[in-house]
Amino acid sequence: MEANMPKRKEPGKSLRIKVISMGNAEVGKSCIIKRYCEKRFVSKYLATIGIDYGVTKVQVRDREIKVNIFDMAGHPFFYEVRNEFYKDTQGVILVYDVGQKDSFDALDDWLAEMKQDLGPHGNMENIVFAVCANKIDCTKHRCVDESEGRLWAESKGFLYFETSAQTGEGINEMFQTFYVSIVDLCENGGKRPITNSSASFTKEQADTIRRIRNSKDSWDMLGVKPGASRDEVNKAYRKLAVLLHPDKCVAPGSEDAFKAVVNARTALLKNIK
Ligand code: GTP
Ligand code: MG
Repeated sequence: MEANMPKRKEPGKSLRIKVISMGNAEVGKSCIIKRYCEKRFVSKYLATIGIDYGVTKVQVRDREIKVNIFDMAGHPFFYEVRNEFYKDTQGVILVYDVGQKDSFDALDDWLAEMKQDLGPHGNMENIVFAVCANKIDCTKHRCVDESEGRLWAESKGFLYFETSAQTGEGINEMFQTFYVSIVDLCENGGKRPITNSSASFTKEQADTIRRIRNSKDSWDMLGVKPGASRDEVNKAYRKLAVLLHPDKCVAPGSEDAFKAVVNARTALLKNIK
């Protein structure tokens, strides 16, 4: 049996699972859980000290699921407390604040922390991850857009949701899909089912879209040296166009990336003799 397969009381019926929340301090992990379990929102920030634990029951198809939720503190200070709680987990709610770029950039560090604590025999492949792009109600401060978040999540085979613990938007949908995916995983022998999204674009496409987003100018975007010839620009453009053409590429953000590449080429060719 897989190391983090859940314990079953009655095969085929009841199921006990463990889920944890992860993400930087103040991104809204506790509020997301509170919104779902208690249908309320607290605007005052009450930092989680170490771990908060709760139990809830949900119904998925014909099964009753007993969910043990471990809501982790995001502050680095609590690392020592957190690291005992990563093992035997079937689901992770991985949260960032769409108005805090740092909290989005930190998602890789959270995965690394979990991986390190699970040790060499730990398997992250049989855990369902639900990425929550939280605080979408704060539209004015938003700095991580949907396609950027979705691309990160889907290129890892994770679920992606836009949420607001304040308004409740996306929260029920996230938990329902999350629990169904965990039950599917348990019924699939502990292996994460292949989702359409994770199979529909390549790592090269995802990396290229990210590189284009972060490029500093048109040369950089096309991946040519400043002062490159028309031929070099056209060659680089064609390669990117084939990779990102909207007819061929369904990765989140590919349309914008494709348009940006077309514009970069036009701008560069204007100034090359
Ligand atoms: P730690 O326990 O320290 O790791 O933080 P946390 O991730 O659990 O954050 P928490 O849920 O305590 O929320 C932090 C702050 O963000 C609180 O002031 C919340 O009221 C606020 N907050 C949480 N979710 C939302 C949201 O969706 N929209 C808005 N506007 N504020 C939110
Ligand atoms: Mg908290």
